[in-house]
Amino acid sequence: MGPGGQNAAVAGFVVVAALAVLAVFPQPGSGERAQPPSSLEPVAFVMPQETTPPELADAGAELVVSTCSACHSLEYITTQPRGMGDKFWHDSVAKMIKVYGAPIEPADAQAIGDILAGRFGQAAQLP
Ligand code: HEC
Repeated sequence: MGPGGQNAAVAGFVVVAALAVLAVFPQPGSGERAQPPSSLEPVAFVMPQETTPPELADAGAELVVSTCSACHSLEYITTQPRGMGDKFWHDSVAKMIKVYGAPIEPADAQAIGDILAGRFGQAAQLP
């Protein structure tokens, strides 16, 4: 093989290598696969806006909103089953304090338990 043949072999290898790269990283629009990051630049993303569930969006629930949204979504509250009664809600508040260390004064804990029991303690009324 002369010098020209060697160049052709190298060129052939480059083409095969390029095709291999294309196969591993499909170009935009060539399918559903996610694209690999093209650089190490920071990626910006927007977290969904945390909103107050409608069941707790009024002034009477302000203490619940300000106290109980410190660690998790208020949907932890509103997705609990209805009709669990008064004790369930006071126990839930006590659990946040004793088990998870929520810094809630006893008077506030009582008030929050009352609010939650009043709103969620009874079984939902069927229309
Ligand atoms: C100090 C942090 C903290 C605060 C403040 C807090 N919680 Fe929680 N809460 C947790 C943790 C941790 C869990 C369990 C999370 C999990 O399992 O993913 C939880 C879970 C819950 C659950 C789901 C059921 C359960 O028992 O695991 C409910 C209901 C709940 N919290 C209600 C409340 C209420 C009501 C308040 C306000 C009085 C409150 N939380 C405040 C930490 C907190």
